[in-house]
Amino acid sequence: MQEFVNGRERWATRIGLILAMAGNAVGLGNFLRFPVQAAENGGGAFMIPYIIAFLIIGIPLMWIEWAIGRYGGYHGHGTTPAIFHLLWRNKFSKVIGVFGLWIPLVVIIYYLYIESWTLGYALKFLIGLVPTPTGEGSPEEYMKPFKEFLESYVGSGDEFITPSLYAYIMFLITALINIAILIRGISKGIETFARFAMPTLFFLAVILVVRVFTLETENGSAIEGLGFLWNPDFSKLLDPAVWIAASGQIFFTLSLGFGAIITYASYIKKNQDITLSGLTASTLNETAEVILGGSLAIPAAVAFFGVANAVAIAQSGAFNLGFISLPAIFVNMPAGTFLGFLWFFLLFFAGLTSSIALMQPLIAFFEDEFGMSRKASVLSTVGIVFFSAHLVIFLNRSLDEMDFWAGTIGVVFFGLLEMVIFMWIFGGERAWEEINRGGIIKVPRVYYYVMRYITPLFLIVLLFTWAKEYVPSILAETHWTVWVTRFFLVGLFLFLTLMVFLADKKKKEAGVE
Ligand code: PFF
Repeated sequence: MQEFVNGRERWATRIGLILAMAGNAVGLGNFLRFPVQAAENGGGAFMIPYIIAFLIIGIPLMWIEWAIGRYGGYHGHGTTPAIFHLLWRNKFSKVIGVFGLWIPLVVIIYYLYIESWTLGYALKFLIGLVPTPTGEGSPEEYMKPFKEFLESYVGSGDEFITPSLYAYIMFLITALINIAILIRGISKGIETFARFAMPTLFFLAVILVVRVFTLETENGSAIEGLGFLWNPDFSKLLDPAVWIAASGQIFFTLSLGFGAIITYASYIKKNQDITLSGLTASTLNETAEVILGGSLAIPAAVAFFGVANAVAIAQSGAFNLGFISLPAIFVNMPAGTFLGFLWFFLLFFAGLTSSIALMQPLIAFFEDEFGMSRKASVLSTVGIVFFSAHLVIFLNRSLDEMDFWAGTIGVVFFGLLEMVIFMWIFGGERAWEEINRGGIIKVPRVYYYVMRYITPLFLIVLLFTWAKEYVPSILAETHWTVWVTRFFLVGLFLFLTLMVFLADKKKKEAGVE
């Protein structure tokens, strides 16, 4: 059933909404980024700041984003340039709101490409076109064929990268699959797909976890990997880098500070619950992350290579654990290539339910603010993404640079602005009422103070520490490929700002506000 209110679509069912939101959050971040972050930051040392960040950033910001989105939605807007202007009648608010289009757009440019690798890998494993690990030897030696496999897939080069034709075709197909879902709209497309994909994803993950935990090798067992992850090391609490990493992971995994939760929330009915639903979606994501994501890559690598090697692998590159070690471990087991297929298919589904969420802000912007048809909006958005992705595909350092500005620092900055605009400018009590309206549970009052004082303060400290820690190395970066990417990112922001003002002009001419 497709429902429209004031010309905008609505989620058809509550369970569909929750699964779509969980699909938004559960992504490559849960299965690839989380294990690497945890391993790099000392395992058990990481989990304490992580849980604290979930409680004082994740949950409050999640409620705020749902509330901001639902509020915008019943005023006819699904993206932050217009919604911030509703909350704060000031010209400046629209420009700040542009970040809510820019961040998801920049992130989807590289996210979609990585997602396409998982599809490409899944298919190769399905038909068995995969390397065989060589003998015993050291972990490096053992994984060498898989490392070369990845290199020939994505290509290598210091400046220009030449990926395989297969990788390029898989990217094209991934873009088309995204279009196929998005073009059907919110309830028929995104919701229907999430209702099928999310249970499938959990099921696949459980199968793989069971397999990993029945893995016994001479180097140890998966249980030791869990010990590594869950033995707290309180001394690390004094290290700001661990707090930065943990908070960054909370933003990324819960899709907070991207504008994408806000857009999804704009399709919620005016008086429908957001308190319990928001909490449920967040809990689903955390289950997928710490229970499932935490029980795959690290425990398997620890069981197979030992703790020290597993950590070294995680530190050697963001994709090495997921694209090199894990498949190398799987193919060594009975029915190994099929297990590898399940792993990459799981990643593909996780990525797909997230990539459609990252596309939706720009789509909603074209629809809501330009009155464009859904079809035209979807095709324009995916077209822009596909075109821009060539930078990431062919230019070295571009992916990392985009991930840093948008997916790492941009989201914290934008999350802070959201909180200030909603809880301070729009007004604390009004915002509190907006969050709780129609709520099945009432948010404990202590969260009012968390949202107004504690989280914003925490984020400000985080941003300053971040700046102190990373600005020198940013300024030291002079490679031309980095600068090309930076110019591109600034250009993209200016383009989106221009679009926001054009939309305004168009609406004024048509006599609507
Ligand atoms: N939360 C996703 C992940 O963990 O992979 C990433 C993401 C998806 C971020 C959608 C933002 C978003 F809007």
